[in-house]
Parts: sequence; C-alpha cells; structure tokens
Amino acid sequence: MNTRNTRRDFLSLAAAAVAGAHLLPKSVFAQSAAGKPALLGGTAVHTGGWPQWPEWRQSWESSILQVLRSGRWYRGTGEQVQQFETAYAKLLGARRCLATASGTTALIVGMHALDVDAGDEVIVSPFTFIASYNAVLINKALPVLADTDPATLTIDPASIESRITDRTRAIMPVHIYGMPCDMDPILAIAAKHRLPVIEDACQAWLADYKGRMCGTIGELGCFSFQNSKHLPSGEGGAITGGSDDLIDRCGSFHDCGRPYGGFKGARPNFTRGGNFRMQHVQAAMLVQQLDKLVQDTARRRENADRLAASLKEIPGIEPPRLPDNSRAVWHLYPFRYDAEKFQGLPRDRFIRAMRAEGIPCSTGYQEQYFDGLLDEAINSRGYKRLFSAARLKAYRDSFQELQGNRQVCETTVAMTQNLLLAGAADIDHIGAAIRKIQAHGAALARA
Ligand SMILES: Cc1ncc(COP(=O)(O)O)c(C=O)c1O
Repeated sequence: MNTRNTRRDFLSLAAAAVAGAHLLPKSVFAQSAAGKPALLGGTAVHTGGWPQWPEWRQSWESSILQVLRSGRWYRGTGEQVQQFETAYAKLLGARRCLATASGTTALIVGMHALDVDAGDEVIVSPFTFIASYNAVLINKALPVLADTDPATLTIDPASIESRITDRTRAIMPVHIYGMPCDMDPILAIAAKHRLPVIEDACQAWLADYKGRMCGTIGELGCFSFQNSKHLPSGEGGAITGGSDDLIDRCGSFHDCGRPYGGFKGARPNFTRGGNFRMQHVQAAMLVQQLDKLVQDTARRRENADRLAASLKEIPGIEPPRLPDNSRAVWHLYPFRYDAEKFQGLPRDRFIRAMRAEGIPCSTGYQEQYFDGLLDEAINSRGYKRLFSAARLKAYRDSFQELQGNRQVCETTVAMTQNLLLAGAADIDHIGAAIRKIQAHGAALARA
C-alpha cells in the first residue's frame, strides 16, 4: 500500500470530490466533504439511525396465534409448512419447494439427494458464509474452492474447470450478498462434465439472472430464513427444484427417511434420513412476509441503484459488476476500496471513520480457509481414510492459488441490507460520508 501520497494527489482527490458533488444535494455536500471527519471531532454526516431489522407487524399475529392455539406445531400435523412451500415455489417460479429447518440443513439435504457422498468433492465459491463449506464437510465431502472474480465478488466461472477431478460430484455457486453468479458458463461446464449444480441462494431471495430466479436455475437451490435474512423466521430454510424425484428424495431425507411423494420403498425404513423439518410457526411467519419481501426488494434495488450512481463517481470506490441481464437483491451492499485513492487510509481505519459518520459497515468475508476448519477436517481420521495424502496436500496447497479471492477479502467493504430500506436522503449520506473521508484521508491515516 502506498502511504506516501503527494500534495498533487491530495489536490486531485479533493478536486474529484468537488467534481462529483453535483450528484448530491448541496446541503449534504456542504456539511460533508468540507467538514471535519467525525472521527477527528467533526459532526457526523448521518445522525438519524437506520431502519431496524427484522420488522414485526401486529397484523401478522393472529395467524401465529392460530398455530400456537391449535397445538399442531410440527410438520406431521397442520398445513402451514405446505402452504408456505406452495406460495414460495409460486413466487420463485419453481416447480417444487421443500421447507427445512435452516439454510445449512437445506444444503446438507440437497447434497445428499444429489448423491454427494463420503470421499466426493464439491466445487464451491470461497467468498461465502462458512455454512457453504460446512454443509459439504458434513456430507464428508471435500469443499474444493474455485476462485472469486474481483469485479463481481462471485465465483469466477473460468476457475471451475481446472478444479474438476474424477471425485467431483457437484458444483455449488453461491449468490453472495444476493448477487447472481454468472450461471450460463457455470451451467455449460456442469453440462460438459455431467455435474449437477446446487445453488447456494441463502442470501438471494428473488435475485434473478436472465429472467430466472436464483435458486431455480441449477438442479437444486437452497435458501435461508435466519433472523438477519430478507425473509426471516428466526431459523428456517428451503430447497427449490424442478425435479419431483429430487425434491421427493430431499423430502424423505429431511423427514427421518420416511416415504415422501413418489420416493418410497417396499418397507417403512427403506432409506436414510434425519430430522431437518421446519415448524408451522416458522412457516406462518414466512407466509405473512412474502408480500413485504417483494416490496422491500424493490426498495432495496432502487436505493442500491441510487447509491451505485454516486459511488461510481468516487475514485477508489468500485461497486460490484453484475452479470448482464441480472438483478441483485443486496443482502449486503459491497464495494471495493482502494486505500491509495484515499491518501493511504487503511481499510480498517476507513471503516472506523464511516462508522463515526453514522454509516455502519464492515469488511466482508475473510480468507477463512486459513482459519483452521479445513485443516481440522483434512487432518481428521475420516478424511485421511477417504482421500490420499497426496490429494489432501494438493488440496491444502491450492488455497494459495485463490488470488482473486484474496484481493476481494483484502479490499471489500460492505453495508447491511437494512440501510437500503432508508429514504433517498439517507442513502445520499453514504456517498457524502465517503467523500468527506476521502478529502481528509491523510489526516485520518495519521490520527
Ligand atoms: C451464503 C450462505 N449459505 C448458507 C447459509 C446457512 O443458512 P442458515 O444460517 O439458515 O443455516 C447462510 C446463512 O447465513 C448463508 O449466508
């Protein structure tokens, strides 16, 4: 990182900040770029707080109470889970949906149905919540990490094929932050090698790619309804798919191996399974929020477009590029930060300065493959039995090749989705805060 910026750099940055100021209301600019950063004792750009998440509405309560009073709380009785499955499938344009206890269990069940077995390999996006890796590990398979495209922050399709081995059993792209992966080249590679695609759409409810919803493009798609998600029920998940056989297999595995739809055997205990079921209270909460999900998504998109237009004008801030003809839903809104364009202000210090201006943000996912979990897995008795020492060594060495992902981990800053539910004037504060920090980058770096 270059921390020795010249006075000329500083002046050109200040000029750039002024040049982009036409995008902002005059009052915002006056109180921002010109003012002292809040971290240095100035007044914060944004003081009004941000929308709370999750949101509860009193009008939803009667349907929840109805479930509670019925005593029919588990999936084997009652109908709310099935109602949710039907409604969610319809909303997404999916043939089938199976509700599950969580996004993690959706992935575990989905991979089992795709016959991901002990000793197999699954190609995964590295830039993701750790559950994507864990779901593969729980199936005793190896999560093989493809690289991340720094421009899109999603899996780089060009990095997939070289990672396919004779053990590869599935490809799992992750629509991280609600940004669709570039699915066409992924599907082409999958078709060439006859591999199923299981989409981790746990952050991508209603994101779309070339007219299809994320989660309905591959063989299976998995969603999370955990508390922070755009469609929350505390915990919860779903699997979507276009094949009755696959979803019936998922249904059976998620319900102790009981017969499900067309998937049945001659005797009751004909197949393996666990308990990965959703409860009716969760389903009732979810059904109530489907209209809100649609409305919130439109609002987040509108605000994200407004934000992107202002961020694109700021040197050193790079909003993500989406695949052609696709729309994100912004579970987080990320951008890449170039410290050199901020007079050497390190990213962590930039984030502190943003928080002081009233704009909560954080770094994105880190290089979590160096954190120990994968080492623990490959050093376990089970993995040593399942894979050769040479394969496990090559696997561990391959983490060093993830140069695109390293760049992304080192430079990304992200804001949570609730900010995008605020009013337009609040959204303008984000760009204003960044410009102010940029104008004072050197002082902030020294302080
Ligand atoms: C990308 C991704 N995959 C999987 C999961 C797992 O979902 P859950 O927390 O519902 O188990 C999450 C949840 O945060 C996620 O963000």
